[in-house]
Amino acid sequence: MTTGVDLGQPQAQAIRSDEDVVRVRQLVRAVAVAVKLSLVDQTKVVTAASELARNTLVYGGGGSVDVVIVDNGRRKGVQIVFADSGPGIPDLDLALTDGYTTGGGLGLGLSGARRLVDEFQIETSAETGTRITVTKWSR
Ligand SMILES: Nc1ncnc2c1ncn2[C@@H]1O[C@H](COP(=O)(O)OP(=O)(O)OP(=O)(O)O)[C@@H](O)[C@H]1O
Ligand SMILES: [Mg+2]
Repeated sequence: MTTGVDLGQPQAQAIRSDEDVVRVRQLVRAVAVAVKLSLVDQTKVVTAASELARNTLVYGGGGSVDVVIVDNGRRKGVQIVFADSGPGIPDLDLALTDGYTTGGGLGLGLSGARRLVDEFQIETSAETGTRITVTKWSR
């Protein structure tokens, strides 16, 4: 895909609409290709990003995403940070339980996303909203 942007630089994207969620998928795919993730791992991280972007939109009331190439000296990876100023997640353990939803979804987005990436971190509070950081490393 030709994005016309320098994927070596952090990429920021607002999440305010379904079209933005599509753009997040495209951006994550492009960066995953750039760091040479396998096709399977590309699909895993794109799927995780899609679920988290949708949650940011639906539950967080919109927000933003940053997509960054990370390098630990041995491997490269793609790191994605989702942030919103929504109500926060009051019970994280519950929210991460397969099938738990407050919105009539399948309740598999958050738990599924966690399984699809290598690193998964959530900071959430009613005051500051929700910030989720995920990383997928090349093998
Ligand atoms: N950014 C967020 N802000 C506030 N609450 C959230 C956020 N993301 C998830 N949640 C809460 O966690 C629950 C579980 O999220 P999850 O993505 O697993 O399920 P879902 O979105 O309800 O359904 P699915 O993603 O399977 O369609 C949500 O129903 C919601 O209550
Ligand atoms: Mg969801």
